[in-house]
Amino acid sequence: MLPKVVVTLPIPDAAKQRLAEYCVLQCWDEADPIPTPLLRSWLQDSVGVLCSLGTSLPASVLADAKQLRVISTVSVGVDHIDVVAASRAGIAVGHTPGVLTDSTADLALALMLALSRRVLEGHRYVSSGDWTDGWSPDLLLGSDLSRARVGIVGLGPIGQAVAKRLRAFGSEIIAWNRTARAIDGVTMVDLDTLFMTADFVSLHVASTADTHHLVSRDRLAQMKHGATLINTARGALVDEQALTDALASGRLYAGLDVYQTEPLPADSPLLGLDNVVLLPHVGSATAKTRNAMMALAIDNLMAGLNQQPLPACCNPAG
Ligand code: DGY
Repeated sequence: MLPKVVVTLPIPDAAKQRLAEYCVLQCWDEADPIPTPLLRSWLQDSVGVLCSLGTSLPASVLADAKQLRVISTVSVGVDHIDVVAASRAGIAVGHTPGVLTDSTADLALALMLALSRRVLEGHRYVSSGDWTDGWSPDLLLGSDLSRARVGIVGLGPIGQAVAKRLRAFGSEIIAWNRTARAIDGVTMVDLDTLFMTADFVSLHVASTADTHHLVSRDRLAQMKHGATLINTARGALVDEQALTDALASGRLYAGLDVYQTEPLPADSPLLGLDNVVLLPHVGSATAKTRNAMMALAIDNLMAGLNQQPLPACCNPAG
């Protein structure tokens, strides 16, 4: 009998066909996340699950999934999964590191440039028909990324890819990492120095209990007047209320791709601010990268079903 696999995100037909040769699929094809009670019941007799960020897999759900051997998420982040509980239950957890590094780093740079060169304000000015005076010497003056000091929080693969791009811009690059790293053109500093002296602070650490609200009200207060926070990592890294207050006071700018609650609630005060650029969690959203993520996630799933080592596993069970 073929093993059962639950798929909780819409996946391409070709991927479904490939998987259907090896397992019986139970697919949740809606855009909304699968309701937890339904997921819990579907997982009762499943050997594998292919999921993404919108599917929360806490210990309480895993406890009922007695036959589960592999969780494969189409994401590098695994904060939606209780990895410790999975490891304890002998469930391998696969994810998709590496393949989205460049796309995510590109988006961090896109946000830096959008903020420093006031791209959205310019777009709104032109598209609203307000641009009637021609070239003007002081219209929408911004700042140069090439002259900026950029602080990178977290020098994993994505943080390093951001540093590589900033080197080409000629920015001064400072960084903090839990363990010091020797990276060409990057000066390692402590977090206080980073937050107090950077013109841009860009976040590239995983969301864990240790990094929850790493950007606290106090850290935001340390940032220079007029500095910009870039977050393409996870919303939980930032005290969003404190950030909203700092933005509303006009002291800081921000470029955000991720939020405490996703999708961003329609009544979020962030929506009314014009010193922020907001994106809908699209750091890895290029066609090639999403294909590569799906391919790696399916490879992880298949390896887990076959009780082989996963190509990209984030826990000892794999
Ligand atoms: C990830 O992979 O963790 C991203 O946030 C989604 O692409």
